[in-house]
Amino acid sequence: MGSNVCPKCGGTGWKIIERHGLSGAERCDCAFEERTRYLEERANIPINYAKASFDNFSLPQDNQIARRGLADVLLLVKGYTREFPNGDKPGLLLIGDPGTGKTHLAVAALRILIARGFEGLFFDYLNLLDRIRSSYNEAGQYCDKEAYRSALEVEVLLLDDLGSQRITDWTEDTINSIITYRCNHRKPLIATTNLPDPDAGGVLMERSSSLPGKVEYRTTLAERIGARARSRLFEMCRVVRMPQVQDYRIRTAR
Ligand SMILES: Nc1ncnc2c1ncn2[C@@H]1O[C@H](COP(=O)(O)OP(=O)(O)OP(=O)(O)O)[C@@H](O)[C@H]1O
Ligand SMILES: [Mg+2]
Ligand SMILES: [Zn+2]
Repeated sequence: MGSNVCPKCGGTGWKIIERHGLSGAERCDCAFEERTRYLEERANIPINYAKASFDNFSLPQDNQIARRGLADVLLLVKGYTREFPNGDKPGLLLIGDPGTGKTHLAVAALRILIARGFEGLFFDYLNLLDRIRSSYNEAGQYCDKEAYRSALEVEVLLLDDLGSQRITDWTEDTINSIITYRCNHRKPLIATTNLPDPDAGGVLMERSSSLPGKVEYRTTLAERIGARARSRLFEMCRVVRMPQVQDYRIRTAR
């Protein structure tokens, strides 16, 4: 708070209110703002997305189908945050191609939940696995449990770019244990991925990059994170499929 002490509460975080001739104490707005700042600082949101919000999520002007598709997605994500934590499912899964705004929307949602007082934590999938892996000591014993613990326990976990790594038994077990724990305890998880899934209407075939004129199968979400984690993800998350829109990074680079 420093030298600019709140004029409403004198810096105590409580203000005295009079109602029906009685006086009582009420939490001052500055205490909420202070908590939001504190929670945002600890949420580990990458600097690129620090200001991501629904307000600065723009809809394409030139393509009406893309515009409508993206507007629908925006409504779904807003609906999720509005109903949180009382929605039908505690989590949100955004699936779609690169540059369609998944991470932007996921962070925007997380920041709103943080502003409402929930503790949130952003983890890039690869980075989380790396941190957990490096927390084993040379003898293979688990020593620093911080990253793993917080992925399990934080009130709202944002797991960005789920499945963006070839699977090993170890990654499958690790991601499975995190998702299973959070699912069993109904702990909210917001996740993004660009891996296709047949049940989310994803396109499973693509033109081969090595064999001209041939098509090949794309790696699916289940193949990367395992069938069990994928099943739980669908159980605990509202699944939102991003529409076919031009990669925003390319749209703005022109
Ligand atoms: N509709 C939009 N309005 C404003 N900014 C956007 C929009 N879509 C994307 N962006 C911005 O473009 C960049 C790329 O978007 P983002 O990272 O959300 O894509 P993504 O779908 O997560 O891609 P990837 O699959 O590669 O992770 C970000 O800086 C994001 O803030
Ligand atoms: Mg992303
Ligand atoms: Zn105050």
